[in-house]
Amino acid sequence: MNDSIPTPFPHHDLLSLASWSGEDIRRTLELARTMKADPAAHKNLLAGKRLALIFEKDSLRTRFTFDLGIQDLGGSAVYLDHRHERLGARESVPDMAKNLERWVDVIVARTYRHRHVSELAKHARVPVINGLSDLLHPCQALADMLTLSEKWGDDMAGKKFVYMGDGNNTCHSLLHAAPKLGMHMTVCTPEGYEPNFKVMETARAAAAKNGVTLEHTSNPQEAADGAHAVYTDVWASMGQEDETEERAAVFHEFQVNETLMNLTNNAYFMHCLPAHRGQEVTAGVLEGPNSIVFDIAENRLHAQKAVLALLLCTPKPDPSSTQATSTVINA
Ligand code: CP
Ligand code: NVA
Repeated sequence: MNDSIPTPFPHHDLLSLASWSGEDIRRTLELARTMKADPAAHKNLLAGKRLALIFEKDSLRTRFTFDLGIQDLGGSAVYLDHRHERLGARESVPDMAKNLERWVDVIVARTYRHRHVSELAKHARVPVINGLSDLLHPCQALADMLTLSEKWGDDMAGKKFVYMGDGNNTCHSLLHAAPKLGMHMTVCTPEGYEPNFKVMETARAAAAKNGVTLEHTSNPQEAADGAHAVYTDVWASMGQEDETEERAAVFHEFQVNETLMNLTNNAYFMHCLPAHRGQEVTAGVLEGPNSIVFDIAENRLHAQKAVLALLLCTPKPDPSSTQATSTVINA
């Protein structure tokens, strides 16, 4: 494995992209493109490695692409359906981590509480990957950035990237990634649905360091003006089903439709999926010529294969050490 990935990677878990530098993200995207171009060249890279998938919420893309991804690299996956009981209910999350590390080499968890995926990482001696939490969706953002890098080439500098809708987990991870790759980013949400303050602060610092702008507005027309890519996500995320009606009324003006897309600079349309036609996006935009949603879905596979390879290339320090603990706090 180290023949293909000679330089140690500075991260042992993927909880959040907040602590990943632009260089770390670029390196991941580059490996993903290499793996995508020649899948057979890496078919034994993770031979014999086992992956545990622990999901408290539904999934199509994340579950399939991690399962297929580790198989593509010579390993195998086991899925634990945790949708009917919250993590920590039957046994503590640290105990779960200490069991899993004896059987598998890497864990992907999709949790209601971000704290739980962080706790798994803190207590497991194997890498833990956030497959979506209430706070973040880092694997999604990597696939999104990979797709844009294919469309625009590696140099994304100067593009205007717009996120429209709810300031949610997907939005947060995009905020952790796009400014570091040189994109100007505009987040457009209704009042009261802004992104997490700390995530915005982190993104602002990254934007300043990279000489790009980061703006927030509640005016969709202003946001769309001149955009090169427009991203949206569901208005009610998993766990917010009770708020669906109330949110539909609030978010109505934030729908990505043909009129809004006409204000852009022939922008790509992006969505993590699943999408709700007639709500956050019209069928015409979702299925239109500028939509790259299925390219993104495909790239979940390639981006995550790169993540698996990079995280497994350097042994994780003992979780009781200071270094492992600080990884969790940074999440
Ligand atoms: N985009 C995404 O994470 O899809 P799933 O919820 O189907 O995994
Ligand atoms: N924000 C959405 C993303 C689904 C992939 C959710 O959390 O449900």
